[in-house]
Amino acid sequence: MTAIEINGLTKVFDGLVAVDHVNINIAEGELFGLLGPNGAGKTTLIKMLATLLVPTSGSAKVSGYDVTKDPDKVRR
Ligand SMILES: Nc1ncnc2c1ncn2[C@@H]1O[C@H](COP(=O)(O)OP(=O)(O)OP(=O)(O)O)[C@@H](O)[C@H]1O
Ligand SMILES: [Mg+2]
Repeated sequence: MTAIEINGLTKVFDGLVAVDHVNINIAEGELFGLLGPNGAGKTTLIKMLATLLVPTSGSAKVSGYDVTKDPDKVRR
């Protein structure tokens, strides 16, 4: 099963593109390292996956649940 599915995920803060059309698929049981320099957008990406920030565009699913449409199920 795909644990995390990210398609075209994008976050823009007042014109600053913090996360730019990211596509990642992570399988259940897979270990995935998210690396990048300061300001690369790692925390912004994780906050969208955790439903703490609403994406500007694109989509992401955690355990099959959409972070925008089903945030309660994603958090559970
Ligand atoms: N709430 C916010 N409002 C405006 N800009 C933001 C906000 N949060 C992050 N940014 C900007 O978005 C970009 C990505 O920041 P983010 O914190 O996601 O990077 P990061 O990869 O986690 O960096 P670090 O390695 O320093 O933790 C940066 O340019 C940052 O200044
Ligand atoms: Mg960070």
